[in-house]
Amino acid sequence: MNNLARGGPVQNFYMGSGVLPTVENGQGIYLFDTTGKRYLDASSGPVTCNLGHQNEAVLRAMQNQAEKVCFASYNFFENKPNKVLAKKLINLSGDNFDQAFFVSGGSEAIEASFKLARQYAISVGEKERHKVLARTPSYHGSTMGAFAASSDPQMENTFQKMSKVLPKIPVPFSYRLPQNYNVDTYAEYCANEFERTIINEGPETILAFIIEPVGGLSTGALIAPDFYYSRIRQICSKYGIILIYDEVMSGAGRTGSFLAAEHWNDANPDLIVLAKGLCAGYSPLGAVISPNYIVEKVARDGGFLHGHTYASNPLSCAIAEAVLSEVSEKGLILNAKNVGAYLKSGLEKLAQNSHIVGDVRGTGLLLAVEIVSDKSTKEVFDKKYRAVYRLAEIGMEKGILIYTRKTANGIFGEWLMISPPLISTIKETDLLLELLAETITTFEKETGLY
Ligand SMILES: Cc1ncc(COP(=O)(O)O)c(C=O)c1O
Repeated sequence: MNNLARGGPVQNFYMGSGVLPTVENGQGIYLFDTTGKRYLDASSGPVTCNLGHQNEAVLRAMQNQAEKVCFASYNFFENKPNKVLAKKLINLSGDNFDQAFFVSGGSEAIEASFKLARQYAISVGEKERHKVLARTPSYHGSTMGAFAASSDPQMENTFQKMSKVLPKIPVPFSYRLPQNYNVDTYAEYCANEFERTIINEGPETILAFIIEPVGGLSTGALIAPDFYYSRIRQICSKYGIILIYDEVMSGAGRTGSFLAAEHWNDANPDLIVLAKGLCAGYSPLGAVISPNYIVEKVARDGGFLHGHTYASNPLSCAIAEAVLSEVSEKGLILNAKNVGAYLKSGLEKLAQNSHIVGDVRGTGLLLAVEIVSDKSTKEVFDKKYRAVYRLAEIGMEKGILIYTRKTANGIFGEWLMISPPLISTIKETDLLLELLAETITTFEKETGLY
């Protein structure tokens, strides 16, 4: 195993197992390397390429905008793509949101949501509010503010000294539960822990609570029982805390509704952060969507003290507008729901026939399978098997790309994200299931355990 050189000079920054293939081109749900080998993109990259690759309408929009103007700073100009995209995004986001602020990705958008919340609190005379509560494990981004609100013990060992330590509340896991709890009683416990933490910290100091409503990589598409969402909403309202949904992964149609928030109508968040599927990998873009009452207060008091050179970028906004048009015109949200249900039942069948698929989670096309060495005990594989990493390698050999995670070195388990593009057909889903089953069987045999 070669832990050093991986691909070119950029990849050398990352540890990895061996040299990766070099990508040449993409088409639909497939990517091809320079040898012509085809890979089915079973996780949409890092749950990003919602439209698959080389969508023609998006490429046309990209070229059209590039021919007009690629960049014009928001310091000097409004730009049309930004206005059109904001309107479209707000229309798709239902009645609770009126304004959109665009940056270059998920982490930047998370930072923007925290600062917007903080400025709003100051505007309404609540200057003490500054702590953002979050859950453990969680991932909200790589920048220092987003990192401070994320929780992964492995990363914390390295970076926490550089960062403010923010309180964390346990995630209501559904598969690997502490003794004497079931899914509901554990979710109840986690909600109670949220309230207890607020009281301990001083409710007047709590600014916001951030959660991934449908989990991303850190929890493997985890969904809590319905009552959990209403409970945390009620607790936030009781203490005047801004509830932020991190929909970087779950937003833009992936879960079978435009926002995952739509699954829990009695638990509307105050702010939502989007990225990934919003521009579907065609350009870097993230967004915060907000109701008028927050933005108006901040604007009245001098405006948002936050920006980036590429905020409101015309080219990225034009591309995202084309992405969202494709999502609407091609009925991809409904497709995510229907194909997602088909894929999930296929994964459940696969789980029954496999020794190592312990759990299948998620909704729409945001799904994950949890890998265990023993289904009866839910034991995680010994480190020496490199289970999810090896599964990803075998997948690559067989022509299927799988995004994997062993959260916090396996303390919380390990899983494969099964989240193909929203354009996936039933036939392509059958092929995905076939390649995944082959990958799992090959790994099972290789371990010599079954
Ligand atoms: C839930 C969640 N939030 C935030 C981020 C950070 O987004 P980005 O990588 O675009 O900065 C990610 C990225 O994977 C994510 O999955």
